[in-house]
Amino acid sequence: MRLVVLVSGTGTNLQALLRACADDAYGARVVAVGADRHGIAGLARAEAADVPTFAHRVADYAARADWDRALADSCAAFEPDMVVSAGFMKLAGATFLARFGGRFINTHPSLLPSFPGMHGVRDALEYGVKVTGCTVFMVDAGVDSGPVIAQAAVPVRDDDDEASLHERIKRAERSLLVDTVGRMARERWTVQGRKLRFGS
Ligand code: GRF
Repeated sequence: MRLVVLVSGTGTNLQALLRACADDAYGARVVAVGADRHGIAGLARAEAADVPTFAHRVADYAARADWDRALADSCAAFEPDMVVSAGFMKLAGATFLARFGGRFINTHPSLLPSFPGMHGVRDALEYGVKVTGCTVFMVDAGVDSGPVIAQAAVPVRDDDDEASLHERIKRAERSLLVDTVGRMARERWTVQGRKLRFGS
């Protein structure tokens, strides 16, 4: 399965995928990495692995829809079977979803539908939950609202701050993402309503 991975930051989820893809038995391969900004560690990790990269900044386009089309075109050029948003901090628009809907997945650092949005870790901490986690889900037109593919729970400690909790979640998130993408590549999946099941 050909993967295009989208990143905005440090790219540790991307790195976990790159490592998994080094094994042919994994069933997937990262064919390109895209970003919404230049000069980030995520792009450097791709370059170090000899994976082609592209970046489109929203600010460089007259309208958000133009940025969305450019992003979709760059992804499409690599003929992906699936697009993985791994810490990509932008919402894709209508053009992108029309092209990649149903094969565009994202990872989020909370147990959705709790704490969607930009500050999932901070919001869970402020709410006072004792267990949070991470979710891999199919992207739809809403904010972190598409069908859940897989989840992992992570305990919250009394002395956690946002950074320590996020770091613990990210450890779980990397394995969850690697396991989930591998299963999707090897087993395929079907979606009925909100229910995603592995197998064709
Ligand atoms: C992950 O926790 C992701 O869910 C969130 O940002 C983090 C990205 O980490 N949106 P990295 O760039 O993969 O290290």
